[in-house]
Amino acid sequence: MSGLFSLQDHVALITGASRGLGLAMATAMAEAGALVVLNGRDAATLTAAAEGLRARGLKAGIAAFDVSDFDACAREVAAIAARHGRLDAVVLNAGINHRKPLLEWETEDFLRVLNINLTGCFVLAREAARAMIPRGSGRIIFTGSIMGIVARPTVHAYAAAKAGLGGMAKTLAVELAPKGLTVNVICPGFFDTEMNTALTQNPEFDAWVKQRCPMGRWAQPEELGGAAVFLASRAGSYMNGHMLVVDGGLTINM
Ligand SMILES: NC(=O)c1ccc[n+]([C@@H]2O[C@H](COP(=O)([O-])OP(=O)(O)OC[C@H]3O[C@@H](n4cnc5c(N)ncnc54)[C@H](OP(=O)(O)O)[C@@H]3O)[C@@H](O)[C@H]2O)c1
Repeated sequence: MSGLFSLQDHVALITGASRGLGLAMATAMAEAGALVVLNGRDAATLTAAAEGLRARGLKAGIAAFDVSDFDACAREVAAIAARHGRLDAVVLNAGINHRKPLLEWETEDFLRVLNINLTGCFVLAREAARAMIPRGSGRIIFTGSIMGIVARPTVHAYAAAKAGLGGMAKTLAVELAPKGLTVNVICPGFFDTEMNTALTQNPEFDAWVKQRCPMGRWAQPEELGGAAVFLASRAGSYMNGHMLVVDGGLTINM
């Protein structure tokens, strides 16, 4: 691919890219020309995913680490930048959910979700910025959620983390723009991924999504790829501190 949306010669780290939305965004970025480094916790799953991309002539490597291991985050980002001589974009996407009525929540579960979904993103963004600032360019992209904007019951830590990403992206965006970096958030609606298996298989919830979303359906993971390519490429060069909602119009539907 060439032109406005090209990521030719770019190096991008995508966390939580062994499956689901991360792998879909990594695939789209690789199709746009980037060398994508896939992260997740399981090296074997990542290797299979990277081999799948390479079999199609795309450029892919792996970096297996837990995003809530903050020392590993710093070490791995530095290693990727050193190995490839550059780091153009990070898509900080790894995330988990935990759904319980409030009175059944353990504090440890709240902290576990926050560590993965928010603090890990802070550490990775800081370390990516450390690698990007000397080159005067870079794109930091968070996967937020419409759950950081609107609410459903039970997902207290998830919503706190996703809303937190929105706030943090803005402080990073204003601090890092003078250094040539941009920081944005992609906010997906309801996508058919493993994270949502319990919901897609629940007839009541499935019907609610289809009724509430004007498009009348769940999204497929590949429908998020364009947003990541846009924000990582020259096409998104003046996007900064933005929350890009990709939800089929669900949140604007009265
Ligand atoms: N699906 C949706 O409708 C939706 C909507 C809004 C936002 N999102 C967000 O989109 C992101 C991806 O979600 P998804 O639906 O694609 O979920 P998913 O299918 O469950 O994939 C989650 C990914 O994150 C990785 N991961 C989980 N914990 C990790 C950790 N501690 N360190 C490193 N990697 C970790 C998983 O790999 P391993 O388990 O192998 O480590 C996997 O690759 C999440 O941030 C989620 O909150 C999803």
